[in-house]
Amino acid sequence: MTASAIMSIDQGTTSSRVVIYDERARVLSSAQREHRQHFPQPGWVEHDAVEIWNTVRELMGLVTARAGMSAEDIACIGITNQRETTVLWDVETGRPVHRAIVWQDTRTDDLLARVRESEDADELRRITGLPLASYFCAPKIAWILEYSEPARLAAERGTLRFGTMDTWLLWNLTGGVHGGVHATDITNASRTLLMDLETGQWRPELGAHFGLDPEQLGPMLPEIRASVSDFGAVSARVPLAGVRVTGILGDQQSAAFGQAVFAPGEVKNTYGTGCFLLHNTGAEVVRSEHGLLSTVAYQLDGEAPMYALEGSIAQAGSVVQWLRDNLGVITTSEDVERLAGTVTDNGGVYFVPAFSGLFAPHWRPDARGLIIGLTGYATAGHIARAALEATAFQTRDVLAAVVEDTGLTPEVIRADGGMSVNDELMQFQADVLGVPVQRPRNVETTALGAAYAAGLGHGVWTDLDQLRELCVTGQRWEPAMAPEQREALRRRWARAVVHAQGWLL
Ligand code: G3P
Repeated sequence: MTASAIMSIDQGTTSSRVVIYDERARVLSSAQREHRQHFPQPGWVEHDAVEIWNTVRELMGLVTARAGMSAEDIACIGITNQRETTVLWDVETGRPVHRAIVWQDTRTDDLLARVRESEDADELRRITGLPLASYFCAPKIAWILEYSEPARLAAERGTLRFGTMDTWLLWNLTGGVHGGVHATDITNASRTLLMDLETGQWRPELGAHFGLDPEQLGPMLPEIRASVSDFGAVSARVPLAGVRVTGILGDQQSAAFGQAVFAPGEVKNTYGTGCFLLHNTGAEVVRSEHGLLSTVAYQLDGEAPMYALEGSIAQAGSVVQWLRDNLGVITTSEDVERLAGTVTDNGGVYFVPAFSGLFAPHWRPDARGLIIGLTGYATAGHIARAALEATAFQTRDVLAAVVEDTGLTPEVIRADGGMSVNDELMQFQADVLGVPVQRPRNVETTALGAAYAAGLGHGVWTDLDQLRELCVTGQRWEPAMAPEQREALRRRWARAVVHAQGWLL
């Protein structure tokens, strides 16, 4: 019998998850584990790439055993990952030269301020489709090379390699120091500020804008492949030896793929650590005039890339974690729904969670978080409610930018991710958007998308229509709020956002 089970590795910002699906995309086995967040200074966020690799390797063994399976039962592997988080490692030792710098990290804000003022800024934006923000990889690479001597020495020896988490995991899975594959997919590459969005090719010379030597940078960069393509076989040293990796997508693109956002005009919004809305623009790169970024949605092997406009919101589920870990007002993340449910509205309280500045559509690194509108009446319940509402308000802001850029209002927003299980938040989201919100039966579409990509690459499925049929929709929320009330809330929120900006100036 030929194997038809698919393993998906979902390496996220706070945890890694490995899931095995059958050919009907039903979950056969899954396991998840958190990894440590390192905050060496305010605004800095780092991960230990070795800890992440060890976690993923253990989870792979665990879910395979739980499913009562072995390598022979797994047809192929898909990888999806937190995007932009930057790892540099030495191929001779297999060790990272520095902790990975996470996408939320703001340490390179000053460098970016200089790049934004340079005369080439517009050209850089045009080539890459990205705003000039510390969010992306190139400035993180530059920072590590400036401050880490082992990195500089390895770069001089020509043994330094760059990768996002997909690349780091792929290299380790396929042999590491014994000849691991150094490659990435085009969706991840499109987040580096080093890739030409139109051609899908590296432009190492762009590194010079960040103080990188293009000659040194070129050999550090992984090969860019289509998202659905062959990335190599798992080495004999790892569980599932011999199984091929046949799909890789950045996690937001993966969630879109898992929700079958294949056609122009279709939109998904993922409520994870951050919150990311992707609007498929088809084979055309649409350039935003309203603070969104242009990115690759996916690419099938041998076909042209499909693009998307993206509204990236830095803090969503992470704010719930902050209420739990830093304020201690809840003991588990799930408690937030109960705490927010102790009040019937926000009591006039607004929470702008600009912990690492504001991303789309404002792109204000000088913003910091605030809670405003406090009175003696306000309770922890109002603050919890305001924290949840912030995600919905920010989604409204990025959707307004999509509508301005494209002239199209989507028929429905396909919601997914951990926070989307909160029914009250989904109703509030539909209310403040004035657009219906629909949730799939299984909200973990990030892992599912990578499984779809890998299964397509391996031949478990043959085309996108087949994947569309596998998607099972769940509940749907219609907008029910009066337009005047929506407008009143939106105006208050907009004022709170203005107050958060410029805090660091
Ligand atoms: O761009 C960052 C994004 O990929 C992180 O996603 O799900 O870990 O919040 P998530």
